[in-house]
Amino acid sequence: LDKKVRQNNWEENNFINYKKMSENLAIVRSRLKRPLAYAEKILYSHLDDPHGQDIERGVSYLKLRPDRVACQDATAQMAILQFMSAGMPSVANPTTVHCDHLIEAQVGGAKDLERAVGINKEVYDFLSSACAKYNIGFWKPGSGIIHQILLENYAFPGGLLIGTDSHTPNAGGLGMAAIGVGGADAVDVMANLPWELKAPKVIGVKLTGKMSGWTAPKDIILKVAGILTVKGGTGAIVEYHGPGVETLSATGMATICNMGAEIGATTSLFPFNDRMYDYLVATKRKEIGDFARSYAKELREDEGVEYDQLIEINLSELEPHINGPFTPDLATPISKFSEAVKANGWPDELKVGLIGSCTNSSYEDMTRAAAIARDALNHGLKTKSQFFVTPGSEQIRATIARDGQLKTFEEFGGVVLANACGPCIGQWDRQDVKKGEANSIVSSYNRNFTGRNDGNPATHSFVTSPDLVVAMSIAGSLHFNPLTDKLKDKDGNEFLLTPPSGDGLPANGYDPGQDTYQAPPKDRDAVTVQVSPTSDRLQVLSPFSAWDGKDATDLPILIKAQGKTTTDHISMAGPWLKYRGHLDNISNNMLIGAINSANGEANKVKNQTTGEWDAVPAVARDYKAKGIKWVVIGDWNYGEGSSREHAALEPRHLGGLAIITRSFARIHETNLKKQGMLPLTFSDPADYDRVQPDDRVDILCTELAPGKPITMRVHPKNGETFEIKLSHTFNEGQIEWFKNGSALNTMAKSAKN
Ligand code: F3S
Repeated sequence: LDKKVRQNNWEENNFINYKKMSENLAIVRSRLKRPLAYAEKILYSHLDDPHGQDIERGVSYLKLRPDRVACQDATAQMAILQFMSAGMPSVANPTTVHCDHLIEAQVGGAKDLERAVGINKEVYDFLSSACAKYNIGFWKPGSGIIHQILLENYAFPGGLLIGTDSHTPNAGGLGMAAIGVGGADAVDVMANLPWELKAPKVIGVKLTGKMSGWTAPKDIILKVAGILTVKGGTGAIVEYHGPGVETLSATGMATICNMGAEIGATTSLFPFNDRMYDYLVATKRKEIGDFARSYAKELREDEGVEYDQLIEINLSELEPHINGPFTPDLATPISKFSEAVKANGWPDELKVGLIGSCTNSSYEDMTRAAAIARDALNHGLKTKSQFFVTPGSEQIRATIARDGQLKTFEEFGGVVLANACGPCIGQWDRQDVKKGEANSIVSSYNRNFTGRNDGNPATHSFVTSPDLVVAMSIAGSLHFNPLTDKLKDKDGNEFLLTPPSGDGLPANGYDPGQDTYQAPPKDRDAVTVQVSPTSDRLQVLSPFSAWDGKDATDLPILIKAQGKTTTDHISMAGPWLKYRGHLDNISNNMLIGAINSANGEANKVKNQTTGEWDAVPAVARDYKAKGIKWVVIGDWNYGEGSSREHAALEPRHLGGLAIITRSFARIHETNLKKQGMLPLTFSDPADYDRVQPDDRVDILCTELAPGKPITMRVHPKNGETFEIKLSHTFNEGQIEWFKNGSALNTMAKSAKN
């Protein structure tokens, strides 16, 4: 294990560290003395402190050292801006950025890409210059979708990756634990803070038998989603094993792991096997394949491991499935689908079929889909529905262009879109139906929530394998079952489509296509990060100021929020997403969804210095301009929802000191600490009712110490001052974050010393 094997073909100095991993694992084994799941082996071999770390599945918080970070272009903006504010010369861990989310599908690949490059120029210029400056690999627009690029270039068995996108688990197809995170977590790892994850439970899925005919790897996850539902994987890693694994291609395994995000799983994983080795060889990484073989014993589960839950699927009996509409866990086998369409009154005409995306655009997917399209063409038929293809990467596009599948799709009547997310994330200028008009579409994507693809809440979106998408597009109907139903050829003769067959890997190797990668230059000092001072989408962040060392007195309450206050209430999404790289602009959405206990209204609070009622962000700005710090009072589970770091950055930016609640959602609580805020909870939750919106408060910050509550003095508008106790979960290290103004300031300080 002493060999120096590079993590990938792009970076000279980043190596796979199986030696260190096996040493860490030996330490953990001697402590736990029980068989381990593969997921556990990867996580525990990446522990920051394998000797001292508490390890209990579902209970402990693990401090981990991931091998890599990956960001897509929408989430990368704020992550990199934050990282920049730390003033470090380069990222501390290997990082890549991928331009895939901002390209709108309109007329087809080349034109759409050109248009997007124009519209998003300032974002792309910023990302490409910042990547060059801070030693980050940059994949330009047109390169492909983050998860496909990671699988083709960066994923390796046994590795630990975090990515700022939910479908990062796709890399599980190469035996990597790849976990979707929020931007704040990515920044931590870029800045060399350990990354925290609650030790996941492990759900085992045992695969037996072998698939045939119209059944595809996608059907495994469609079935699992039906069993576990959208919540069933929460807090767990799904680990596949059993003899059926060997019958799947690496890219098929990636599809299954990718869509594991739909059941809420932390990630999904397959053990290292020969099919992964073949894929590594085909993508010019034979050395990694050989290295993994030498560490193979630890790249799978131990014999006798106990899973928290076990599911068994016999692939020989698995039927093709179609999931949806509106939720990915409503699973219907194809044999029952036509009935379900009738029973539920789903629109039965199929308007649009879409294949590709990060979930299903492997060479195998494309060759199988093209084989079905060719079968139809041979019978004189084309697609009846509109038909779109989004290749997952430039490499896939170039390879299917060379090998003829792309031409088949075009002959079939399809449109090949840019190598990007496109309609999967609503980047689709759809013209064929009006907003509000009920209609059906079928895709090989992963997520089909209301309005996701085209912004039309009446669109019934179904997800299935690319094979069924093509077959149903030929018929133009949701009632069509290619296993049993005949089509009429151009002469009116009936025929059954031939079940698809495809190649797992291209016989002539992959064609890399155009060079779309930008490596960091040797001389990075000379690079200037490009942010226009007049931009309304991007703004350079200054470090937050350090604590002044004093107790804070006579603070107004910006808002006493009542009831649910989620991250959506604190930092709304929708149209605001445009400003996610501009903290000052996006701060105009701060807490505008929270309900004020004083009047039961949203976004209407009293300015305590003027007595005027105004919008929450406006009042906060006024306090800030007057040099007055403020606090928020919140209810139970404040900050639940997403890991959106803006929800913590905004109150800090607008001059908040403390958020005081009955309880916090944990991730938001940590995010607040990272930004130098004080998340505090009423030691007695009933004290929430004793504080009134017009009261002033003193926060005795100087009392802050691990495990001890701090005092809040409350000065009611009319009445006697009283004291209440506030609890917190700060440890020593986190108190430094508060003192220095943020976690990043703390990292920057220690990097300088
Ligand atoms: Fe992109 Fe859709 Fe995948 S948004 S990353 S193609 S899930």
